[in-house]
Amino acid sequence: MNICITGALGHIGSHLIRNLSVKGLKKVYLVDNLMTQRYASLFDLPDDKSFRFFELDILSHEIDRVIKDSDVVVHLAAVTNAEESFKNAELVERVNKDGLTHVVELCAKYSRPLVFFSTTSVYGSQEEIVDENCPESRLKPQSPYAESKLYGEKLIQGLAGRGKFDALILRLGTIFGYSVGMRFHTAVNKFIWQAALGSEVTVWKTALNQRRPYCGLNDCVRSINHAINERIFDNQIYNIVTLNLTVKDILDTIKAYIPDFSVKFVESKIMNQLSYNVSNQKSLERGFSYSDDLSGLIKETLGRLGNINCEVDKQNL
Ligand SMILES: NC(=O)c1ccc[n+]([C@@H]2O[C@H](COP(=O)([O-])OP(=O)(O)OC[C@H]3O[C@@H](n4cnc5c(N)ncnc54)[C@H](O)[C@@H]3O)[C@@H](O)[C@H]2O)c1
Repeated sequence: MNICITGALGHIGSHLIRNLSVKGLKKVYLVDNLMTQRYASLFDLPDDKSFRFFELDILSHEIDRVIKDSDVVVHLAAVTNAEESFKNAELVERVNKDGLTHVVELCAKYSRPLVFFSTTSVYGSQEEIVDENCPESRLKPQSPYAESKLYGEKLIQGLAGRGKFDALILRLGTIFGYSVGMRFHTAVNKFIWQAALGSEVTVWKTALNQRRPYCGLNDCVRSINHAINERIFDNQIYNIVTLNLTVKDILDTIKAYIPDFSVKFVESKIMNQLSYNVSNQKSLERGFSYSDDLSGLIKETLGRLGNINCEVDKQNL
């Protein structure tokens, strides 16, 4: 089996390509336009897989032949910074909507199953625990980024399962955990970065006690391996969530390793989201499983950053 992974050099992709565990795997086609400059994700790839890297934009006509020669497409490429997406709305539209449309059209042309990564941010603002049955009228994406992901879900659901191609839509919680192509603009990772630097940890004014869904990076990669091995291309949506946490839970966990950091409360355009818990029950019933440990993965990331600041006490790492 050949697999095409778009956005393969990113936070998730760089971990996935080192931990792909798929039966009958032959070639792994890595597609990334290096928009985020993560060249380092290509260093020291494991010898036990046959990789081929294509420096390509997902909108380029050249990915036609890559998808044609693949048996499964894992679509990770996207503009992913939700807060910045208010300023970058045009780029978000081009990559997350037009780029996805191009990939979907090629999957339909060659009947290739597609794994699409959406986000639990499509739930946006909910009063209680939510699951995949939440009606579309109650989904409230709070940023151009989240809105583009909801657009993607609807695009795929409108086309998949009608004989041309099948798809799987994974609504992923915010990722925590180290990878070589890691990024630091989402909640857990940003707090770790700031604490490791000895900077003030910036928290949105309303966010401290609000609950949101998170996903460990190993759980995320396991979900992709499981989906491909079990052929879960049933054109349905699954929440992929390890646990729901408040920002206070996350800060308390970091404090176990770096006790002395201060917190500064700041404004954000997307902080008006309410607290919400996202259920992973449907995914559990389909055989997805979760074993990542927040404290362990925070410790690992802090350990990797251990030498960037000689003034931070490393005795707990
Ligand atoms: N990391 C999270 O917390 C999280 C949560 C929910 C959903 N997701 C989704 O999972 C997917 C992967 O996330 P990530 O954290 O690895 O993102 P990332 O930003 O780390 O990686 C995205 C990769 O896509 C590449 N890319 C961007 N535009 C491209 C284009 N036009 N053509 C080819 N490559 C392009 C970038 O260079 C980058 O390497 C995204 O679709 C994201 O929306 C991520």
